[in-house]
Amino acid sequence: MLNVVILAAGQGKRMASGLPKVLHPLAGRPMLFHVLDTARALSPARIVVVVGKGGEAVRAACAGQADLAFAVQAPPQGTGHAVQQALPALAQGPGSHTLVLYGDVPLVQASSLRALLSAHQGGLSLLTQTLDDPAAYGRIVRDAQGGIRAIVEHRDASAAQRAITEVNTGILVADSARLADWLGRIGNQNAQQEYYLTDIAALAVADGVAVQAAQPATDWETLGVNSRAEQARLERVWQGEQAARLMAQGVSLADPARFDLRGHLQCGPDVFIDVGCVFEGEVSLAEGVHIGPHCVLRNARLEAGARLEAFSHVDGARMGPGSQAGPYARLRPGAQLDEGAHVGNFVEIKNARLGPGSKASHLSYLGDAQIGARVNIGAGTITCNYDGVHKHVTRIEDDAFIGSDSQLVAPVTVGRGATLGAGTTLVRDAPAGQLTLSRSAQKTIPGWSRPKPAS
Ligand code: UD1
Ligand code: CA
Repeated sequence: MLNVVILAAGQGKRMASGLPKVLHPLAGRPMLFHVLDTARALSPARIVVVVGKGGEAVRAACAGQADLAFAVQAPPQGTGHAVQQALPALAQGPGSHTLVLYGDVPLVQASSLRALLSAHQGGLSLLTQTLDDPAAYGRIVRDAQGGIRAIVEHRDASAAQRAITEVNTGILVADSARLADWLGRIGNQNAQQEYYLTDIAALAVADGVAVQAAQPATDWETLGVNSRAEQARLERVWQGEQAARLMAQGVSLADPARFDLRGHLQCGPDVFIDVGCVFEGEVSLAEGVHIGPHCVLRNARLEAGARLEAFSHVDGARMGPGSQAGPYARLRPGAQLDEGAHVGNFVEIKNARLGPGSKASHLSYLGDAQIGARVNIGAGTITCNYDGVHKHVTRIEDDAFIGSDSQLVAPVTVGRGATLGAGTTLVRDAPAGQLTLSRSAQKTIPGWSRPKPAS
């Protein structure tokens, strides 16, 4: 039986933020949520999040995640003290083990935790790492036979101990009953006057319990976030990993260092993504899709061969096979381009369907509209869908031609094959196959001349 305790009570002072550190985002989601996903991948009996100051905000952010328990540590008095606060919430019993994770170490991978759990022989097991520069990490002290004897915090370490390059990542797993016992025996007689979780290693050794160790598969997994600079660094690490995974699947990225995925991206073969694009939510790009530079796509589906040109936004929208949009297009929720439809610059589409082969090439707003096949929407066309209270639908049937600068005051229908003259303000249905226009007749005033300035 596995418990997971996630430490998230540290103050995160170096973030200089009103937001608790673990709620700062990585790839668009709170760091803590990445740790929770990883914890859940291990199917634990219990997940306990230890919160401190700002605990209310953390709980609120986790609202609806019914599998979580919270423990409060206020004020924080060290990692050992933090784990102690979680003890009453743990699932106890024979074979109960507790894995300690950190809310500010968001990239640890389930595969590395599984390696730690397999190394675990029932007492205490540590995830350790050998670093060229052990910096301020706790050091793993081993005896001549290679057995772990203790963890010594950097600040409490002797010069000889500081030369040790094997460090404590902080992540460990322990028998739950023994953990409770050890935590009851640790003190705070150390450089920081804190109750160190790391002191349980020496207690385990004193009790004759062998301490095991395992190493993470990659060295970026255990990087922690203490400052905005470290947050930004981890963001790039993680984006680099995601980019590498997509490229390995056959996606072309113009520059993997200028790629941001803050959700899930599914790609068919031969997708090309230019620089500076941001993907959020669930996005799928089918075979041969081309994304120009600096586009934002959120909850979008682009079908085979669709092309999105530079500086376009697609949100809650679908682009059909071979359709095109942009540059500077905005497809809002409910926009749907059918096969071969074309949307050009400064066109906004919301809750509207543009039928197969239809075009809106310049400067238009199409909202709450049903547009058939092979329709041409002239530059500057606007569907007046909102009367200040209600939204109304505009219908434009197949093969219609809407002259430039027309306003379609919904609810209104343009019949099949109808033509609207440029500048029409359509307030009643336009009959199929005919020309409808609303403008006063053009006239020329003979003999008129411009007023001249008085001299
Ligand atoms: C800790 C380890 C150190 C290890 C390092 C890895 C101890 C005593 N030291 O040091 O051996 O090399 O992590 O990064 O454990 N936290 C609480 N309550 C507290 C204190 C901390 O919840 O009272 C949480 C923090 O929010 C953070 C984590 O515990 O998520 C680690 O705290 P931090 O102060 O960063 O630990 P270090 O001193 O770096
Ligand atoms: Ca610290």
